[in-house]
Amino acid sequence: MLNVENIRKDFPMLKQTMQNHPLIYFDNGATTLKPQSVIDAVVHYYTHLSTNAHRGDYDLSFKVDHEFEEARQVVADFLHAQQKEIVFTSGASESLNLVAYGYGRKFLKSGDVVLTTEAEHASTMLPWMRTCEETGAKLNYIPLDEEGRVTLDNIRKVITKKVKVIALAQVTNVLGFEVPIKEICSLAHTLGAIVVVDGAQSVPHIPIDVQDLDCDFLAFSAHKCCGPTGVGVLYGKYELLDRMDSFLLGGGSNARYDMCGNILLKNPPHKFESGTPAIEAVIGMKAALLYLMNIGMENIHRYEQELHQYIISALEKMDHIILYNKNCEAGIITFNVKDVFAQDAATYFNTNGIAVRSGQHCAKLLLDRLNTSATIRASIYFYNTKEEADRFIEVCRSASMETCLDVFF
Ligand code: ALA
Repeated sequence: MLNVENIRKDFPMLKQTMQNHPLIYFDNGATTLKPQSVIDAVVHYYTHLSTNAHRGDYDLSFKVDHEFEEARQVVADFLHAQQKEIVFTSGASESLNLVAYGYGRKFLKSGDVVLTTEAEHASTMLPWMRTCEETGAKLNYIPLDEEGRVTLDNIRKVITKKVKVIALAQVTNVLGFEVPIKEICSLAHTLGAIVVVDGAQSVPHIPIDVQDLDCDFLAFSAHKCCGPTGVGVLYGKYELLDRMDSFLLGGGSNARYDMCGNILLKNPPHKFESGTPAIEAVIGMKAALLYLMNIGMENIHRYEQELHQYIISALEKMDHIILYNKNCEAGIITFNVKDVFAQDAATYFNTNGIAVRSGQHCAKLLLDRLNTSATIRASIYFYNTKEEADRFIEVCRSASMETCLDVFF
């Protein structure tokens, strides 16, 4: 059981108001609020440490090295990985680009196939579009089922020995359906393909064990897990990280180089980490993951599912609310108010103190399938309450063309 009232005291942002209403933050799919322990960790670094990582030979610098590598161990524990399999990046987008460029460009060739889906976020899909164009490989789409889900049966219909990579999200960012990653990995591996998982919307919400999933790569961002912006993770099986190229070269990632152009890179993960990293953000991410682990990912997942179900049960009774994903497993509610443009409706929610996202949500291919130009997305996290859900339901009930357009006059 979560003690949400106590948890909420950890988040200074939850004391804010918006439009003279207590803030109801339902845009957790875009980014999450930060607990005080994360803010303190970042401030501690700037106040008491403030030196570079892996570069100095003095006490302060050794302390930073220790904190930095300890953060890597915490991420490894969080994912059930080995420390040497955790690469720090600027976020999930950079992690996914790193795989496409560092692995895809090196190993794909003409005739190979990469599989993805129409439901993907641009950061999952576009790096592979570019890599396929450059290598002559083909990007094919796994058909979604009627609801918009990725199913194992549909993957079986399109997978062949030519498929070398399957790139997809574990939880899609608009429809929020959970994808059977473990089963997909097992199928892909029998045919020699690797599976690249976008974990941006799953890692913050469900327990993850990369060994159990047996995925080859998994990417996520700290800021969607109560951590700082500007830092994320690429988990990769060590043998794959070792074989692939880094796409950023510079200080920190090389062991030596000479005037003939011979460059010897360090072993993973360091070969991928050129330049001064976002040290305070890495240290903040450690605090964030420890915070989540202390609450328990199982508890977080269960709580969000209950709150989600509570909201869905109310919304599905409203004729003027069009729900696109009522059966989704995540805390994502994607909907429209009948006859109201999504952004106008989002403005109405704002007027009532509720933060939701509207538009295409960086998943532009999906909109055609949903037969709409934009949707509203409410996305919850473990610090949201039943009282906030009630207020959200009440505002949904009162939303109409008249009330939403009234906001502008
Ligand atoms: N990828 C983030 C979202 O889905 C920004 O909103």
